[in-house]
Amino acid sequence: MTTASLLCERLGIAQPLLSAPMAGVAGGRLAAAVSRGGGLGLIGGGYADPQWLRAQFALAADATVGVGFINWRLDELPHVLDIALAARPRAVLLSFGDIAPYVDAVHDAGAILIAQVQSVRQARAACAAGADVIIAQGAEAGGHAGLRGTLALVPAVVDAVAPLPVVAAGGIGDARGIAAAFMLGACGVMLGTRFYGSREALATPAAQQALLTASGDETVRGAVFDRLRGWTWPAGYSLRTLANDMTARWPDQATGLSAELPAQRADFERALGQGDTRIAPVIVGEAADLIHDLPSAQDLVGRLMAEARELLASAPNVAG
Ligand SMILES: Cc1cc2nc3c(=O)[nH]c(=O)nc-3n(C[C@H](O)[C@H](O)[C@H](O)COP(=O)(O)O)c2cc1C
Repeated sequence: MTTASLLCERLGIAQPLLSAPMAGVAGGRLAAAVSRGGGLGLIGGGYADPQWLRAQFALAADATVGVGFINWRLDELPHVLDIALAARPRAVLLSFGDIAPYVDAVHDAGAILIAQVQSVRQARAACAAGADVIIAQGAEAGGHAGLRGTLALVPAVVDAVAPLPVVAAGGIGDARGIAAAFMLGACGVMLGTRFYGSREALATPAAQQALLTASGDETVRGAVFDRLRGWTWPAGYSLRTLANDMTARWPDQATGLSAELPAQRADFERALGQGDTRIAPVIVGEAADLIHDLPSAQDLVGRLMAEARELLASAPNVAG
């Protein structure tokens, strides 16, 4: 088992906590705030829009941050990686695809390559391809994920790729989840949904209010929003969001949506523009129950880690 200090050393951070590269939601301000708090903030490079990426790196210019991409989309626009590397990120996170074509370029730029995986098989492949850090992402996560749950996946990945450092992600929304991740053998955590509920996130006020009152019970996974946005995701992944009128209308992997796409898209675009969460997606995960405030991301890092350390020191419900 590796330790938090190895991860911190490798990433040059004080706290073993990363904020997820949430596409379009984790901008430069959020990433910089997390890094200022002692963790590593990752800009959500997502579908690789060069203009957005440049603007977000500019907003994070006074901090050391990383960046994440959706691997299969980067395969379509590989030059966008060069734009990111020119901004000298501390780390590049790749998820949902084969990291092999990018390992040398990331290392040559002096950055750490983090691979986010959804299965033990993917973890072994990423390790063999040259990843420096593995993130084991469970299906409780907000956004896209695979099938396996965090509790069993994390220790299995730790065993499979030892001595590579493994970070846990998916369903971790408070200090209890962070403490549990360390008990599973992870040497750090990555949180998305929790930072969606922070002051610096690029989420609409309505979406953040929806998160504050939501339960993980009310999240669903499906393909309807990918279809509406025009993204063709590889098999094996689906998007977790809050349930709303749109997911209720098209619950079964969006079968039948094709014929109605033009009309539905117009409604969808309007909803996005107006922040109408009955139609537009609120992309959060099962940790929604645990989020009751919208603090600054910088404060959140120290607060969560202090609480987690206290829990680990006292081992509640077991010791005594
Ligand atoms: C709004 C949102 C957008 C996301 N976009 C991406 C993405 O573009 N690339 C990626 O690798 N992961 C993405 N994720 C997943 C995160 O990397 C991470 O695995 C997840 O947030 C962890 O689970 P949690 O949300 O329960 O903390 C996204 C998550 C959220 C909530």
